[in-house]
Amino acid sequence: MLVGVDFGLPHFDDGLHELGLLAESAGLHPVARLTCKRKAPDPALFVGSGKAEEIRLLAQTHGAIEVLFDQSLSPAQQRNLERHIGLPVNDRTLLILEILAQRARSHEGKLQVELARLQYLSTRLVRRWSHLERQTGGIGLRGGPGETQIELDRRMIGESIKRTKEKLHKVRMQRNTQRRQRERNQTFKISLVGYTNAGKSTLFNALVKARAYAADQLFATLDTTTRQLYLGEAQRTVSLSDTVGFIRDLPHSLVEAFQATLQEATEADLLLHVVDAANPDFPEQMAEVQKVLSEIGAREVPQLLVFNKTDALSMERQPVINPDTYSLQDRILNRVFVSAQTGSGLQVLRLMLSRLVSSADPGRGAVCADVRFQDRENELQSG
Ligand code: GTP
Repeated sequence: MLVGVDFGLPHFDDGLHELGLLAESAGLHPVARLTCKRKAPDPALFVGSGKAEEIRLLAQTHGAIEVLFDQSLSPAQQRNLERHIGLPVNDRTLLILEILAQRARSHEGKLQVELARLQYLSTRLVRRWSHLERQTGGIGLRGGPGETQIELDRRMIGESIKRTKEKLHKVRMQRNTQRRQRERNQTFKISLVGYTNAGKSTLFNALVKARAYAADQLFATLDTTTRQLYLGEAQRTVSLSDTVGFIRDLPHSLVEAFQATLQEATEADLLLHVVDAANPDFPEQMAEVQKVLSEIGAREVPQLLVFNKTDALSMERQPVINPDTYSLQDRILNRVFVSAQTGSGLQVLRLMLSRLVSSADPGRGAVCADVRFQDRENELQSG
């Protein structure tokens, strides 16, 4: 059962559509949805006690086995809600962690998720180990084996966090060596970024004909994949990296844990910001991507907007001019429309990339910010 509380914030998802997609990506099947309005979270139950009762009844009616909140719950709120509702209660953060744990493929990806999970758990030990308290005669009983166990586990988790960090450090050193190698070769680096499900992996595959995993699930890709891409017009090979999808309210511990993966974006010479143009929420999704880019220090990297899924746009929303420019926050960016699935527009994109790469200063790898493509629109279209 999905629950969302509207605190009057602009991105509130009325239909809990994204939470539903996240749940499905984790292999769950939402059976009921409930939203309500509040001024502020109740410190004990997050919602009011009347609403908590409503959730309990609705969950019972639909045979729900778990309740998922769209917002982050404090450990105490989570515990109190579980007691009240009599079912496991989890939040968006844990759901995202679970999906990422299922998806991690590389050694580094697995370590990153493990670290984020351990950090999340370490704040929630009291709840996670309540089953031990139960063994000594009921929830809420203090002292006894449960309490000792909490102390022990807290220490164990602390040690695990330390060990995982050490392992990650080693893997990152190796990654840095590989990166330095690429830098020595002066390879022009392009990174795909974008909101989850925008079509990054599909575009990556279409461009380099590799087979990165693409699926209609959130966070299908977790690890960075890098391939060489040959640009005929520029007669140059560049490196193209597919990165993890961004999502709103990405837990901070996760941004931290994925810093190394996301760092690919920071060090790129050009970002291809892939946008699902067929999603009505695309402006908010773009804003979220900009926010994460700022957080990881990649805001200043030149960006080319790739509006994907044009095949799914109605006739009236089809682009008239391709490429054109788009004003995003305080910047005017070049934009190209493509369909990674049908291949339409990909030739225009390749040409734009060739031009950008050729115009880059070979010494610094920086892209000339003033290259504007609409002037060459006819030329590109005939190309
Ligand atoms: P994450 O790994 O979650 O960040 O996703 P992603 O951005 O890599 O997206 P992915 O390539 O996995 O595509 C997500 C879904 O969109 C898949 O079902 C794709 O088949 C679909 N998709 C991608 N490109 C297009 C397109 O041009 N048109 C249409 N109609 N669907 C597309």
